Amino acid sequence: MTSQTYLSDLFSLDGRVAVVTGGSSGIGRAIAGALARAGASVVVVARREGELVATVDELTADGCRAAWVGADLRTRDGVRVAADAAAEVFGEPDILVNCAGVNLRPPMGELGEEVWDATMALNLEAPYLLGQRFGPGMAAQGFGRIIHITSQQAHRAFVQSGAYGVSKGALEALARSQAEAWSPHGVTCNTLVPGFVMTPLNARLSSDPEKVAALAARTMVGRNGLAEDFAGAAVFLASRASAYVTGQAIFVDGGFSVH
Ligand SMILES: NC(=O)c1ccc[n+]([C@@H]2O[C@H](COP(=O)([O-])OP(=O)(O)OC[C@H]3O[C@@H](n4cnc5c(N)ncnc54)[C@H](OP(=O)(O)O)[C@@H]3O)[C@@H](O)[C@H]2O)c1
Repeated sequence: MTSQTYLSDLFSLDGRVAVVTGGSSGIGRAIAGALARAGASVVVVARREGELVATVDELTADGCRAAWVGADLRTRDGVRVAADAAAEVFGEPDILVNCAGVNLRPPMGELGEEVWDATMALNLEAPYLLGQRFGPGMAAQGFGRIIHITSQQAHRAFVQSGAYGVSKGALEALARSQAEAWSPHGVTCNTLVPGFVMTPLNARLSSDPEKVAALAARTMVGRNGLAEDFAGAAVFLASRASAYVTGQAIFVDGGFSVH
């Protein structure tokens, strides 16, 4: 057996279909690219058409199969319509990545119901609804992968965690509930936990060189995260190789959480 065949048996996503929410920017875009380059047909879901088109163009130019669905995942109807549209393109997904997220940071004392609702709708309820929509089908076919992107704030408070940290903590609990339900049927459910990653999500913090350097110093690797750092872990969690890994939170944070 060649190493190519061995690696392919473990990690290839050939013939798989993946849906990646938030797949048009930052971590989600890097994950969509990784899954597509590993062989999956990928549908990216987000709101802004320009970013969606640019993502899909980049992937198709690279010889990948990719498509996009424009949707606002903050409403239940938006999620339902997006899920149906995403499944129309290449068929029902084998892999679901919930990466779309929002981090609104009012001080806790000023955190109103609007911020709470908006945070929970996108960060927690959309992943739940998409899991309900696609999980049973994955279980029926005996293979599936659900990957949520949470945050170190699922584990500790950090720069006004507010509703955001709560939503991410609950998302890790959701992964465990889904894992309990569907792992016996070949569907693993895990979370990837970023530390501080330089993406548009935290543009304000990333534009302060002193804070950026201080955060890098809190890692063990000595730098802040890049979206590309998630590629390998995402392919692993989406592939056959991770069949016995479920309900887990896997930190991709350069050692930030243990330093
Ligand atoms: N960057 C970090 O340091 C960090 C740390 C911990 C966790 N995370 C988590 O990682 C995930 C990705 O973050 P990122 O840093 O890569 O952020 P990003 O670059 O801002 O990407 C966010 C993605 O979500 C989409 N999105 C936002 N609101 C949406 C909505 N209402 N409906 C549908 N799609 C929506 C965005 O596209 P549109 O705006 O066009 O809709 C975009 O594709 C998030 O869940 C975030 O909480 C990030």
